[in-house]
Amino acid sequence: MTTTHSPLGIIGLGTMGRNLALNLADHGVPLVAWERDGTLAARARDKLPAATAWAKEAADLAARLAAPRTVLLMVTAGAAVDAVIEALRPHLAAGDTIIDGGNTEAADTARRQADLAAKGIHLIGLGVSGGEEGARRGPALMAGGAAEAWDRVAPTLRAIAARAADGAPCCDRLGGGAAGHFVKTVHNGIEYAVMQSLAETYDLMRHGLGMDVDAIGATYTAWNRGPGGGYLVEIAADVVRTRDGDGEPLLDKVVDRAAQKGTGRWASLAALDLGIAAPSIAEAVFARAVSAARDDRLALATGTPGPVNVSVADLEASMRSATMLAFLQGFALIAAADARDGWSVDPVAVARVWRAGCILRAPLLDRLADAFGALEDGAHPLSAPSLRSELAETLPGLRRVAAAAIGAGYAVPALTSALSWHDGMVRARVPADFLQGLRDRFGAHTFERIDMPGSHHAHWTEA
Ligand code: 6PG
Repeated sequence: MTTTHSPLGIIGLGTMGRNLALNLADHGVPLVAWERDGTLAARARDKLPAATAWAKEAADLAARLAAPRTVLLMVTAGAAVDAVIEALRPHLAAGDTIIDGGNTEAADTARRQADLAAKGIHLIGLGVSGGEEGARRGPALMAGGAAEAWDRVAPTLRAIAARAADGAPCCDRLGGGAAGHFVKTVHNGIEYAVMQSLAETYDLMRHGLGMDVDAIGATYTAWNRGPGGGYLVEIAADVVRTRDGDGEPLLDKVVDRAAQKGTGRWASLAALDLGIAAPSIAEAVFARAVSAARDDRLALATGTPGPVNVSVADLEASMRSATMLAFLQGFALIAAADARDGWSVDPVAVARVWRAGCILRAPLLDRLADAFGALEDGAHPLSAPSLRSELAETLPGLRRVAAAAIGAGYAVPALTSALSWHDGMVRARVPADFLQGLRDRFGAHTFERIDMPGSHHAHWTEA
């Protein structure tokens, strides 16, 4: 059955916008496009069907769309989104929908939704993952906003999304309000954590085990065929194996200073604001900060640590364990934000949307979706029996790798913070009794007792 799609306005035809526009055109979606930058507009015009209508400004774009209108924004997150919404707003009417497909911070989406609601205009915050290739061939799409607006745009978005192995489109309304953009932020936070864990295994293989890049590439390829496989592990093999023109590993010529656009930082800040531990994500952001302090590192350098006594099998287990734990932290973070903001996010739906198209795509997502489906409402993601048994298999390897790496002088913050988070979360009693004692000793901050209600202050023994 062919679906007839209503015309869609699209603003912003940079790399992501152009590729999404081409994907939309492939699926028969009539487009009204607006791009201020002449070079970008010309590049898109060359590739898009001749039937594409080109608007000169916001009023023109709105006039070319029949109400209720849908306009997809693919502009850089931040001030540019506010500017485009400001330009569009006078020309839109109640019932129209704006979709923001950028990597927008959830708080900005919530603010804009409230502003636009005054005029009856809907704003759907749409997390789009999969990079340029995903946008062109099928991204994962994470939507948040009013159900009424979603119902109207869903057929078009589902048509262009990636499909999981069972044929389901990786596109869903994950909740109300800013749920879509928040889930995308957490997706990126987990992306940071998984990438940092991979970087740590690379460091240990390259310097601790003295493996060459081809052997490391072959190892990642083998891991990718196993239960810890996934897109990032797959491309890790490509990245390590690539040679420069002179035959040397290209990585050896890449400056070891990781850039970042901010989504990992937002995920970490959200965790801090909500009081949720997501150390794998935060440590991955800090590791990028250490990498960025290159001048200091060069001045302080004491040399590369030497051999480390780990097996490749344990490294694979450590990668699987740390990845699973980073995902579980991310899901706990989504649950906490949902509890505060009332979006009604179903973790099963999130895991299902991440199965294909996005950077985190991996067979693990099917297992997470099944595990969350079997959990009682409100149960912690770490409590799922199937996940606990996977962790029971992989944690011993992570422990051995963490101990050996630290002993040999390697920095492995993503691997060790994942382990510490796990080990803290499965302890009935952590040494925070001691912290409370110190707080009360120096500041009379009071503490609760396990054997009686109320808040207490003690006269701690003085030496
Ligand atoms: C995706 C990616 C995408 C982008 C990252 C890169 O899901 O397609 O996450 O959104 O490539 O934001 O982030 P950094 O530049 O911060 O590493």
